Amino acid sequence: MSSAKPHSTFNNPTQFIEGWYWALSSRELKVGRVKAVTLLGRNLAIYRGFSGQVVAIDAYCPHMGAHLAEGKVDGDGIRCFFHNWKYDSKGICVDIPSLVKPLPVCIKTWQTEEKYGMIWVWVGEEKPSSLPFVPELEEVECDYILGTRFVKNCHPNVLLINAIDAHHFNTVHNLPLEIVFNSQELKSNAIAFSNTTRGGDDSWLIRLIRPLYENEVTYSMCYWYGSTGTVTLGPDFLHFYIMFALRMIEGGKTEGQTILVTRKRSGCLGWGINRGLLWLTQQVGNYFAKGDTQVFQTIQFDLKTPTKADRSIIEFIQHVNRQKALTWGNWEAVNYSEDNDRHSSSTSLMLDYDK
Ligand code: FES
Ligand SMILES: [Fe+2]
Repeated sequence: MSSAKPHSTFNNPTQFIEGWYWALSSRELKVGRVKAVTLLGRNLAIYRGFSGQVVAIDAYCPHMGAHLAEGKVDGDGIRCFFHNWKYDSKGICVDIPSLVKPLPVCIKTWQTEEKYGMIWVWVGEEKPSSLPFVPELEEVECDYILGTRFVKNCHPNVLLINAIDAHHFNTVHNLPLEIVFNSQELKSNAIAFSNTTRGGDDSWLIRLIRPLYENEVTYSMCYWYGSTGTVTLGPDFLHFYIMFALRMIEGGKTEGQTILVTRKRSGCLGWGINRGLLWLTQQVGNYFAKGDTQVFQTIQFDLKTPTKADRSIIEFIQHVNRQKALTWGNWEAVNYSEDNDRHSSSTSLMLDYDK
């Protein structure tokens, strides 16, 4: 089997998948405030209008190019610092103080959503599809806390495959469990990998945890837009949910935010239980994050010699490469015909699963 497509989005610093990307946390943006945010190479001003609505607008004023994050929020619009032109929440110029009537100019705005304590921006032209979620919690109201924010010296795609790198659970995290994944495309832009094994009896740990699992040991990872992953793990009676929201920064590196999620429980008692559970979820996440920290500082990812245990990684690479790709910086659709030569070495994988 080989991935013959000459063009590749996976681990490519110049392009990314059209999708939802986190911009900043909700609490970083108070009512009436504006922030400068660079997202996937494009400069934005993101502000919260007086109705609470969040607006993401291209940064530079069409009059003379001032950055709108220097300006002031005015109602649900924004007024440029320089000559006080005002743009409404759709980016339409609605007031030019020196003129009786505004000129017919506008600035591009981008759709936003707030969920899990984060502000997300839809990066793309087509109608937004769903925000990332944990498959088990799709219809459920969630409670959450924000975990750590971090920068890593490798591409988000490379960082995320750690969660389905079956072999490294033994070699790095000392788990005496053979993990075998089954994959399922939930939507064209989301793919889930779930463990299908119960574990061997030769390990005391597996014998210890076996009563907690009726069937296979619950461990699954769902990828969204190749950049955000939601992990589900834990015994049958209590699942932990960890979201790794990543985005590419300059040089194909990663900036990420972990979000710990659980189902909402009612009342004061429910609130208290959830604080404890979310704290516990954070400890679980930390355990898995720690062992690998150093390797992502130095890795030059190139899956030259895949083995059977790397099958899921290859499936993920192929999934990423099937998505609609946009160009870093200008967010325009990648022109495939001109782009044939630009690809990461990981695309020309010749797979031999017998290794
Ligand atoms: S540069 Fe924005 S109003 Fe003049
Ligand atoms: Fe790991």
